[in-house]
Amino acid sequence: MSLSDRRLSPWRLATAPMLDWSDRHCRFLFRLLAPRARLYTEMVTTGPLLHGDAETIRAHLRFNPEEHPLALQLGGSEPAELAHAARLAAEWGYDEINLNCGCPSERVQKGAFGACLMREPALVADCVRAIRDVLPAHIPVTVKHRLGLDDVDDYGFVRDFVGTVAEAGCTVFIVHARNAVLRGLSPKENRDVPPLRYDDAARLVRDFPLLTFVVNGGMATVADVRARLAETGAHGVMLGRTAYHDSYRLAEVHAALFGGTPPSREAVVEAMREYAARVLAETRQDRRPATLRDVTRHLLGLFTGLPGGKRWRRMLSDAAWLARNDPALLLAALPEHASPTHAVGEDGAPGSPTLDAVESR
Ligand SMILES: Cc1cc2nc3c(=O)[nH]c(=O)nc-3n(C[C@H](O)[C@H](O)[C@H](O)COP(=O)(O)O)c2cc1C
Repeated sequence: MSLSDRRLSPWRLATAPMLDWSDRHCRFLFRLLAPRARLYTEMVTTGPLLHGDAETIRAHLRFNPEEHPLALQLGGSEPAELAHAARLAAEWGYDEINLNCGCPSERVQKGAFGACLMREPALVADCVRAIRDVLPAHIPVTVKHRLGLDDVDDYGFVRDFVGTVAEAGCTVFIVHARNAVLRGLSPKENRDVPPLRYDDAARLVRDFPLLTFVVNGGMATVADVRARLAETGAHGVMLGRTAYHDSYRLAEVHAALFGGTPPSREAVVEAMREYAARVLAETRQDRRPATLRDVTRHLLGLFTGLPGGKRWRRMLSDAAWLARNDPALLLAALPEHASPTHAVGEDGAPGSPTLDAVESR
């Protein structure tokens, strides 16, 4: 696939599945910052979707219409259960089903899914086939995985994994470009300690020219994204912690990849204030109504590194303020320097240099 085709890939920019972080409120923020990004839910295990009551299922699957294109990440290893969950997700309107083959947590290992599934490519292929069978053709099944397990850093391991799973009908692979260490490292350490190996991600891209690869891991700036795309030849990047802890970077990367001007932080805050008011009203009758904190906790990183950023975080974490459940808190906490430049959704000036333009020079 040529460089220009890659720029058009629906996977050009994605935000990562992040347990307890990338819920629907967080994803609403990501959408404001990155209108064309593909968003991923936190991992949802098949259990609650199979056995939960209607309210439980709704709690796991509901999303805002603005979130499209949106992928549901499933955790599981039973083909029939995954197929059931995927059918439900299709009914709810998800645009993609992603299977987690990268999570190293002990809880997940006990359930025999997540990263340990990389040891069983034939089973992953069965899972993909089962999901594929129940989905309409326009909804892709994708897999997020690591490069290897424990101290196995032989490229052949991940090459065979991808080859086997691709035969079952998975054409998009999200590569967290490091190993998962299943014994001795916490999930948090597993995101930093095993070294990143983008060269192996690049080999996958070269060896499977008909597949789509999204690279993930360790990117914090536009320059990082530029370097990783150039180095690997991948179709796209997925951002996790940077998008969460320093959210505005997501808008900068989006502008670099797609052109346009990012919305001002103040415009994002105003849109989130309106969103918080909507969510508080909409969930009033729910078994667990939303609180202001459910929304504001995802906004702490919006002014990272700027004057007033600490006060913003402090006010948004203040228990007394939060207890009032008044979205006006967002305006009260706004750093003084923040001034509106571009409204959310406003198109930027055409012709601003995009990352792709830079890349292809
Ligand atoms: C709090 C947190 C929760 C995560 N939960 C998931 C998850 O549910 N599923 C998954 O595939 N990866 C999960 N990850 C891993 C991220 O998707 C991503 O692969 C990892 O953070 C590396 O990307 P980054 O360096 O851009 O953050 C999680 C990461 C974080 C920080």
